[in-house]
Amino acid sequence: MPSVKPQFELSALDAVQWLRDLPTESVDLVVTDPAYESLEKHRAVGTTTRLKHSKSSSNDWFRVFPNSRFGELFAETFRVLKPDTHFYLFCDAETMFVAKPEAEKAGFKFWKPLVWDKQTIGMGYHYRARYEFILFFEKGKRRLNDLGVADIIKEPRIHRGYPAEKPVKVSEVVIGQSSQPGDVVADPFMGSGSVGVAALNLGRRFLGTDLNPDAVAYSAQRLGRLGEGRKPDGVAAAVTPDLFAMMGSRR
Ligand SMILES: C[S@@+](CC[C@H](N)C(=O)[O-])C[C@H]1O[C@@H](n2cnc3c(N)ncnc32)[C@H](O)[C@@H]1O
Repeated sequence: MPSVKPQFELSALDAVQWLRDLPTESVDLVVTDPAYESLEKHRAVGTTTRLKHSKSSSNDWFRVFPNSRFGELFAETFRVLKPDTHFYLFCDAETMFVAKPEAEKAGFKFWKPLVWDKQTIGMGYHYRARYEFILFFEKGKRRLNDLGVADIIKEPRIHRGYPAEKPVKVSEVVIGQSSQPGDVVADPFMGSGSVGVAALNLGRRFLGTDLNPDAVAYSAQRLGRLGEGRKPDGVAAAVTPDLFAMMGSRR
């Protein structure tokens, strides 16, 4: 029997540590959404309620990745990407000003922020938030697959999802633009695995990690419905009831 490559491979390691273990120039595309520091600020003013403490746990739903680690994150991201590839980073306006120069230092060319238009306003005390950025970077030179796609992606936010879960359709746009079927797409902060679902939907392979074991179990569950893959030993086969309770028992 010929061995079939797994369509996804998941890990529960720290993002940078995980990237360090990947071979140089082995990945075709990185799409990721770190737990950046300013999420804490939104939580502090109560605008990101889903990041509150769980009733049944003393832990926050996920750990924040400090801005001071962006340098090592982007250096490793640049190293693992093949020549002539793209890198997309979900973030807010505040983090964009920190992340852009750090990614440029690592060697990336910054093109522009794409806008994810959530189409409805969120909570808050100022101009009410309706969009997030997706920073578009390039290593070397790569053409987009379709030059007719706009830089604003309209897609409703996810209700009752994993904390800060992104819609699969948003990731499908950038994966469809910057990779080919069979390519390897990586996400070092995979959360609910939405980037992985988009990758598998489009016939790509997926590599992902997250420090939160519940995120890994949940991603494994979602991706397991779409294809064959591997998750780390020791990660529970099932998602804890805590996560589903926090998500409003949606799934
Ligand atoms: C904003 S969420 C990602 C959400 C994801 N894009 C989705 O659609 O579900 C950020 C994730 O980063 C994870 N995280 C925080 N620090 C990390 C680290 N040092 N290494 C890997 N994952 C980390 C958190 O557990 C969280 O699941």
